[in-house]
Amino acid sequence: MTPYRLRAAALALALGGLGLACDSEEAFPNLDELDQLRSLHTQARQPPKDGTNRVDGVARAERLGDLLFHDPKLSRCGTVSCQSCHGGDGRTVDTATAEGCGGQRTLRNPPTVLNVAYSRWFMWDGRADRLWSQAVLPLTNPVEMNSDATVVGARLAAAEYRGEYQALFGRFPEDEAGPTLLANVGKVLAAYERTLVRIDAPFDEDVKRFIAAAEAGTAEDDAAYLALKTFVRKGQCVVCHKGPSLSDDLFHNIGVEDSGSGAGGQWAALEPLLDWEFNAASAFSDAPAGTDAVRLKTLRTQANQQEMEGAFRTPSLRNVALTAPYMHTGAQATLEDVIDFYNEGGDPAGSFTGRRTDTIVKLDLSDEEKQALVALLKSMTGAAR
Ligand code: HEC
Ligand code: HEC
Repeated sequence: MTPYRLRAAALALALGGLGLACDSEEAFPNLDELDQLRSLHTQARQPPKDGTNRVDGVARAERLGDLLFHDPKLSRCGTVSCQSCHGGDGRTVDTATAEGCGGQRTLRNPPTVLNVAYSRWFMWDGRADRLWSQAVLPLTNPVEMNSDATVVGARLAAAEYRGEYQALFGRFPEDEAGPTLLANVGKVLAAYERTLVRIDAPFDEDVKRFIAAAEAGTAEDDAAYLALKTFVRKGQCVVCHKGPSLSDDLFHNIGVEDSGSGAGGQWAALEPLLDWEFNAASAFSDAPAGTDAVRLKTLRTQANQQEMEGAFRTPSLRNVALTAPYMHTGAQATLEDVIDFYNEGGDPAGSFTGRRTDTIVKLDLSDEEKQALVALLKSMTGAAR
């Protein structure tokens, strides 16, 4: 411990002994909080390469993926493309759930596909462990695109796709086995999606400036002081919303009301993922024995029902102002509603599955703190690159 931290700890002990709340007494940010703040801004951070996708970063695949993403003829009904549910500025829809083939509704709110290159898990419950395998799910989901390898294969035989596919994978689509074809189409779609990076935001400039002010001892005079203090200290938001994408890429039960068939969250998705023919340990991965396979093995041996039941993935907060409504259910209409949700310590016990994580408690935020948090979330909208 540095002398500074020792002193802070001693002070905290002394105040704790007197039964006083010490948090609000200590100057913000302390050294730990300064480190948390440093983790947030994104300057010069490229997303890691996806070693399980051999066409990742290949310009030809990115172009083909762009066309396929926008092509409704990949769906059995002929009217639903990836873009149908991941369009507009926020690359999502503005309703709680989205409409697929035959007017059917999705179970959950579509997350944005912006910045997916930074994620390690996909879907609210993490039932896909790679971006390319994720794409197989909407393609084949009966309420989304309701497709299969036959429909997809017939479409890939179109003049504008056939030669491109062959150039990338060495075979024509009609010569490919069905599952391989689906995996490869997923890889092409993923190559495109990984170009959808939209990060550098006013937020990053504010955090950088604030850190400099803190180092100079003038943190309290900075315009972002109240917002960042509430985000980091009183609201504990940074415990889960951290790193360049403002997500720990982990799963938490924060107590979002849900009595639907998907309320089990990560726990319910675990077995299907481990048994899935397209998971990252499968033969369709271009690095089947790599770190992803190890990750799955760890998940199998360390699965903890109490932690995983009703747990959903921490969404990135980047561009969050563009992606209303919020939460996996889409139940929160505005960012103000989300802040009220956290201020209440989540939805009432009994309205969701499993046990809420201890970090989520009633916050007792003032109106100024609530407004500062909403403004902070709005400042996270990035410029398109
Ligand atoms: C009918 C609407 C619909 C269509 C069509 C659709 N999606 Fe989605 N998408 C969703 C919903 C809903 C989710 C969240 C599902 C869940 O978590 O249970 C989602 C999740 C995702 C995710 C995960 C994002 C994250 O952060 O976890 C990606 C990536 C994605 N879709 C890409 C695609 C691609 C690629 C296609 C086309 C092959 C596609 N989607 C077609 C509705 C749709
Ligand atoms: C314990 C981890 C944790 C903490 C602490 C936390 N969040 Fe979250 N946040 C999540 C998870 C998990 C979700 C998705 C929950 C769901 O849909 O079931 C979420 C969802 C959100 C959303 C909705 C995003 C979207 O795209 O739907 C916003 C906005 C948000 N959090 C902001 C905050 C703010 C502001 C704070 C602090 C007051 C905070 N979070 C604290 C984990 C956390």
